[in-house]
Amino acid sequence: MVFSRRPVHMTESFPMARRKKIYEGKAKILYEGPEPGTMVQYFKDDATANNAEKRDVIDGKGVLNNRLSEFFMVGLNAIGVPTHFLKRLNMREQLVRQCDIIPLEVIVRNFAAGTMAKRLGIEEGTPLPRPIVEYCYKDDKLGDPLVTEEHIAAFGWASQQDMDDILSLALRVNDFMSGLMYGVGIKLVDFKIEVGRVYDGDFQRLIVADEISPDSCRLWDMETGRKLDKDVFRRDLGDLADAYTEVARRLGVMPANATPMEKPKLIN
Ligand code: C5P
Repeated sequence: MVFSRRPVHMTESFPMARRKKIYEGKAKILYEGPEPGTMVQYFKDDATANNAEKRDVIDGKGVLNNRLSEFFMVGLNAIGVPTHFLKRLNMREQLVRQCDIIPLEVIVRNFAAGTMAKRLGIEEGTPLPRPIVEYCYKDDKLGDPLVTEEHIAAFGWASQQDMDDILSLALRVNDFMSGLMYGVGIKLVDFKIEVGRVYDGDFQRLIVADEISPDSCRLWDMETGRKLDKDVFRRDLGDLADAYTEVARRLGVMPANATPMEKPKLIN
């Protein structure tokens, strides 16, 4: 049988049933894309915490994260920070560049929180003297342990040049995301990115991959300190979809099928 190669703009109708699943993670599924070098990234509604010890399905989370990740990645691409994002296909899916994921979770922290606050006995919310970048080895069975650049070099997970590029990507994402969030009254406490390697002819380069969303960031309201991120789920602080919707609303990123806001009514 001869398959014709479908242009990227036709991918909205890329049929689900014939797709090859490449990988299923806790919150996303990756399918083979319509063109060589592409993949379809599907956002699930599943929420997990503590390495999947706590799990639930949160209606609409996948739709919100698909939209929010698109918004952040489009912005990063526009300011010259390369990402895997190509285009959003529908409510839950986006077309992304296929890349070899570096097996590290790259965490950037502006304020102490989470595992860092616990590990070093620093009160959550304490401003850090400068952004601190941490690396965790991506391995669910081991609980993604914190590693140093010594481990990364010794075990060959990334080269010294890669580490320089990863650090520069992480800090640019931090500046972009911090400014964007500041503009809508939200403090970017910390976040995690993943980095992938792509090949352009003889050249290879590193790009931001995976997702950037309230699942992978800590976002606190500047005035009230209200948490607008996955800690709402991790710490049972209320409705997760409400928190993510608030982030989307402030950024002007609403899901396509959201009920339009009512026009103000004249009160006599
Ligand atoms: O838990 P911890 O304080 O180390 O998390 C730091 C940041 O990295 C948080 O924003 C958290 O949401 C994110 N993170 C993530 N995925 C992980 C671990 C942490 O997105 N597996």
